[in-house]
Amino acid sequence: MSEAAVSANPQATGRPTPDASAAVKRISNRVLVDGKLRAALSDESFEVINPADLTVIGHAPRCREADVNAAVDAAADAFKSWSKVPARERGRMVQLAADRVEAERGLVEHILALDTGNALRTQARPETASTIDLTRMFGGLAGELKGQTVPAASPGVLQYTTCDPIGVVGGIIPWNAPLFLFVAKVAPALVAGNCVVIKTAEQAPLCVLLLAEIMSRELPPGVLNVISGFGEECGKPLVEHELVRKVTFTGSLPVGQAIASYAAPKLCPVTLELGGKNPSIILADADLDLAIPGVIDGMRYTRQGQACTAGSRVFVHEDIYDRIVDGVVERLAKIKLGDPLDEATDMGAIISEEQFQRTLRYMEIARSTAGARILYGGERPTDPYLSKGYFYPPTLLDGLPIDSDVCRDEIFGPIATVLPFTDFDDMIAMANDTPYGLAANLWTRDLSRALEYVERIEAGFVQVNQCVAPRSNVSYGGLKMSGLGKEYALDSMVTHFTSSKTVLIKRGTPGPLG
Ligand code: NAI
Ligand code: MG
Repeated sequence: MSEAAVSANPQATGRPTPDASAAVKRISNRVLVDGKLRAALSDESFEVINPADLTVIGHAPRCREADVNAAVDAAADAFKSWSKVPARERGRMVQLAADRVEAERGLVEHILALDTGNALRTQARPETASTIDLTRMFGGLAGELKGQTVPAASPGVLQYTTCDPIGVVGGIIPWNAPLFLFVAKVAPALVAGNCVVIKTAEQAPLCVLLLAEIMSRELPPGVLNVISGFGEECGKPLVEHELVRKVTFTGSLPVGQAIASYAAPKLCPVTLELGGKNPSIILADADLDLAIPGVIDGMRYTRQGQACTAGSRVFVHEDIYDRIVDGVVERLAKIKLGDPLDEATDMGAIISEEQFQRTLRYMEIARSTAGARILYGGERPTDPYLSKGYFYPPTLLDGLPIDSDVCRDEIFGPIATVLPFTDFDDMIAMANDTPYGLAANLWTRDLSRALEYVERIEAGFVQVNQCVAPRSNVSYGGLKMSGLGKEYALDSMVTHFTSSKTVLIKRGTPGPLG
């Protein structure tokens, strides 16, 4: 792999070219600890690859316990004063941090596209905008950090609860929407008075470090720390560190389970967001003008299907089966794969060799299943540019048995499977027959059926006649094995990032001064 000059495509963006090379050079092989962008204590590093063309865009430190300790110490030290800053003042600083990001959003979205392979127009730019929005929202909620007064059993007794910072929060994030997931953890944690250490995903560390460094210009040193490294070597010691009193994680189910086990001996609370195998369900009476584009949006094809909410099991009533399949295929054919920085590109590259091979593996299963059909996609592009990187077309399958691994596992690639049904009860049973319970989408004009689905579907994020991505101010989290806890809204800040005392005070007879 060659060291590539990092440059934007100015014709593509129509904006001034952000000086990405200089920014990457500045943040490459650095951590953010105690307010400083500096070399890690570890002298090992790993390459950061642009998955669209496999060039090396920079490096990131391979941190281990020593760097974890340094970052946690900085956070613990900063906590002494940050926790005493009035909540609304903390909120104001977090909002100023969002303003800083907004001022540099062209650069941030550009590095995000390079790091992840996500298309600038359809993914990296909207993700950057949502990141700024979510940060501002939490900043504005600082005044909601309040306890309750509790009615007392007798006069002269005051009972109330407090809403206090916890201490150092350890966060571990994935690569699929790295900036949004970063602030979903960092912004509520900071506003609530905690200090944070985040371990970035090894596949997309640079965009997060850049974002954190920009935000930290408005924050006292040590309040926000970012390190990079691998799971067992860096994530595990972070979770296990005795000064880390709260852990928040987004990623795979097995790693979420491991993290909960590392945190268990110290009884450290854990928030987990762990993916899904989500149903998109189309009833016979659905408005097809909503349902057909909805299936495509719901599958998050333009993020290469790399989304925990991806509606990858498409249940379609037999009466409208062919119309749905034809309509979806017609639209999939219009999705343009290409250079993530090109404004004309709808869909970029899969994040890594590992995830790319995973997609190919599930396609092998599909190909070797009798009766399975590839309705669209299913072949690596042959175009010279696209065949270099981890590009794979949007792919739609059918004819697979419901117990196939393709229909059961979270593939996290651009593969969806269509499953016909006739009976509503059978379909609900199939939709719920998964260990996951994250998201579900239904299209119908029948209000009674919609309400019945809402009652019976086992999912934490339930939509009817649409399937938008999770967003600010909409509480989001999974049931069953999809996780623990909620994110993105007020309840996530108050429930997950504060501790509480219950206080009971009795009035006696007045003393000599009274
Ligand atoms: P992963 O769960 O292995 O990694 C996510 C984060 O956890 C990364 O920062 C990683 O370094 C860290 N990690 C890994 N092992 C760890 C350990 N033992 N202790 C502490 N931290 C650890 O996910 P990966 O390998 O990137 O993707 C594998 C699959 O996970 C995907 O195919 C997808 O199914 C699922 N996934 C789900 C996500 C979601 O949004 N819920 C996001 C990313 C992946
Ligand atoms: Mg992994």
